[in-house]
Amino acid sequence: MRPFTHLVPVALLLFTTLPSAVTSVNIVLSNDDGWAELNVRQFYKSLTSAGQSVVLSAPAIDQSGRSSLDAPPQPLNQPCQFNSCPKGSPATGSNATEPRYNYVNSYPVTAIRYGISVVAPKFFKAVPDLAVAGPNVGANVGAAALISGTVGAATEAAKQRIPSIAFSGTSGKPTAWNAKADSYNLIYSDLATNVTTTLIKSAKPYLPNNAWLNVNFPAVDNKCAKTSDFKFVLSRIYTAVPVLTPADVSTCGKTGRLPNERDVVNTKGCYASISVGLADTKLDADAITQAAVLAKLKSILSCLPA
Ligand SMILES: *[C@@H]1O[C@H](CO)[C@@H](O)[C@H](O)[C@H]1NC(C)=O
Ligand SMILES: *[C@@H]1O[C@H](CO)[C@@H](O)[C@H](O)[C@H]1NC(C)=O
Repeated sequence: MRPFTHLVPVALLLFTTLPSAVTSVNIVLSNDDGWAELNVRQFYKSLTSAGQSVVLSAPAIDQSGRSSLDAPPQPLNQPCQFNSCPKGSPATGSNATEPRYNYVNSYPVTAIRYGISVVAPKFFKAVPDLAVAGPNVGANVGAAALISGTVGAATEAAKQRIPSIAFSGTSGKPTAWNAKADSYNLIYSDLATNVTTTLIKSAKPYLPNNAWLNVNFPAVDNKCAKTSDFKFVLSRIYTAVPVLTPADVSTCGKTGRLPNERDVVNTKGCYASISVGLADTKLDADAITQAAVLAKLKSILSCLPA
């Protein structure tokens, strides 16, 4: 039995020191703030470090608030955002040394469509498993979801049957990709990667058909200063109208009504909201669809204080 007893501690050591393996999947990443904005680049790095295979396909310039507009990309009649490409550059292009970084000179929806139909086949030889957008610079809570290009990109992917998540962060301002990262850039990308990998660990299908997630992070400040200060709460996008709005999934001791996402991010205690939307309408999903997401994400979900 000697060799066996000798082997046991080695096996134990391996199992206790290796992080639990996450399946590596193919992800298309976009936003509306532009391909050269630091949040999206930081998220790319964070997902890639977590073992995911990612391609970035995002607008050449800031296209915030463009909702679901879609138009053929045009050659650049100005430099790309933060001078990330020269004036006169072609309608679509990629970083010469990092071809997974792609710009599309059009709307967020156009950019993610290009990512799905042109960039993804090149690198993945397959349809992406998942689409993520953001983190948007600025929150997208409630009716802002109807206007947001970040949400527009995410919902476009979900319409193409690719499960998708839109991420938005309250803190920050548009920042060039090559500037020094602020703490909010790092925290928001960590949190977004946490939600993404949790969904991946939940196994396919990642989301019910036509569903997408609207995730909003509260401000980073001296009370919410590191990733571990934040908690996730299941929420709804719009304020419910008494009697008229159908019931939500029951959780956190509340029957049939989730908190709305604006209240979640405004609650003291660093609460990030996760709402379940429908891609075709950008409205809240029904209780059954919310329940499917609750089951998938329960390992990271908390409740608001009573
Ligand atoms: C292109 O990628 C290289 C290598 O990652 C990087 O040093 C450079 O800043 C990038 N430029 C843009 C505009 O993305
Ligand atoms: C993800 O978030 C949950 C809940 O906040 C936390 O317990 C967990 O440690 C986080 N995981 C990672 C890898 O950050």
